[in-house]
Order: sequence, then structure tokens, then C-alpha cells
Amino acid sequence: MNAAIEKATGRIGWRIAIVLGSGLNDVARSLLPAEPISFSDIEDMPTSGVEGHEGALYAGDLADVPALIFAGRVHLYEGHPPAAVTHAVRSAVEAGCETVILTNAAGAINEGLKVGAPCLISDHINLTGSNPLSGPHDGAGPRFLDLTEVYDSGLRTAARSVDPDLSEGVYAGLSGPTYETPAEVRMLRTLGADLVGMSTVHEAIVARYLGARVLGISVPTNPAAGISAAPLSHEEVARAGREAGTRLEAILRGVVEGLG
Ligand code: HPA
Repeated sequence: MNAAIEKATGRIGWRIAIVLGSGLNDVARSLLPAEPISFSDIEDMPTSGVEGHEGALYAGDLADVPALIFAGRVHLYEGHPPAAVTHAVRSAVEAGCETVILTNAAGAINEGLKVGAPCLISDHINLTGSNPLSGPHDGAGPRFLDLTEVYDSGLRTAARSVDPDLSEGVYAGLSGPTYETPAEVRMLRTLGADLVGMSTVHEAIVARYLGARVLGISVPTNPAAGISAAPLSHEEVARAGREAGTRLEAILRGVVEGLG
């Protein structure tokens, strides 16, 4: 049991956690019209200073399923260690969530991916140079965690039954905060990545470590560096994220309905 989540929400028995990435925070309010709980009012919860990351927890019943929606996350590039980056997911799983849905804004490396069209994460490449399970083994999961299927195929099928046009791709997680160089994007493509971003991989690892099922959804907010002539900006990323909100919302609602 996670006492901080119980204390902040006044409830136990949470079943699903959703983490919303850059520009996607508005989806929380539409999915759960609950009073937001600021991360700063949750014991030990790290807070983010990044624009487009609200830093609030929405807690309530979504399609009759007790759901925790984290609007915003903290990142390695803010100077947070992997333990802080994964704190929300760890707390949610400890509070009962057996399913974790991770969303993010990402650069599209694969030119077949459309900006603004959500894409399922089929697998990831952790290029952050760190791993949230490094250090003494706490015994909550295996010392050497199998990552053959980080992103649950059953949940991906469920998402596709809600939105049959969903594409799927491999997400490369980098530590940022710079966007990539065109040469790095060519390298990532050669490595087999379709999407690139600065989050998600650590959270997915910790959720799997604690035995939760994971669904990952990226919203490509821009062609990755060097693919289009335009320079990348956080404003562009946040705007494209917001525009993808309605479709993402329908996917999230539909998947959660299926869990009820
Ligand atoms: N690179 C890394 N992270 C991102 C990008 C990108 O192009 N777009 C949104 N997040």
C-alpha cells in the first residue's frame, strides 16, 4: 500500500495509472473531471518545472475503474535521478494499479508516422545511460528483470480495437534536454527506432519490475531533427500534443472501459 497516494486521494483500491506527457495534460480534465491534487501536496512526490507539464494528480472513476491520472512527470534532464523520475509510477503500482499507461510527446524518426497521430510503443531502446533498477536490490521484483515484452501485447490489441488506425513503433529514450542532431537521428533510425523522446523508458521498466502491465502511447509532435527543414521547438511540441488530445482521450477511455 502506498500511504502518500492513499492520504492524498482519501481512497484505496486504485487499479489503473495514466501518465500524460508534454502538451497532453488537458486530457486529464476531460477524462476525470475531479479536483486536481497538486504534486506538491503529495508526500515525497517530485515536482516538474517544465512548461506543458501541469504537475497534478486527477483521481477518480474512469468508466467505473478507479484511475490515477498524473498530468505531468519529472525528467532526467531536470536533474532528477531515475528514482525520482519513476516515483509516481512506483507509488501508483504500490497503491494497487496493475495497469500503467504511459504517454509522451516524441519526435518521429519513421517518416511513415504522422505528426499528431498517436502511435503505440511496441518496444523501447533505453539510451539514457541509466537504469532505475541500478543499485541495491530491494527485492520487490527480480534482480535481473526480463524485458522481452515491456509493452503488453494484449493492451496494444485492446487499443487497436478502439482505434484501428493506430500505428506502432520502437521508442528510443534519451536523457535530453537537447533535441537530437540530424546525425543522431540517422543513428537512431539505423538502430531500429521509429520515435525518439526524453521519458517513458525508466517508468516502463519500474512498472514491469513491480509486476504491472504497461501500455505506451507516443504522440509524434514533430519530424525528428533533420527530417524536415524546420528547427524544433518546445512550443511546436506542446501545440501538436494538445491537438492530438481528442484522439488520445478516446483511446484511453476505450482501453480503460475494456478493463472494467
Ligand atoms: N526529440 C526528443 N524528444 C522529443 C522530440 C524530439 O524530436 N519531440 C518531442 N519530444
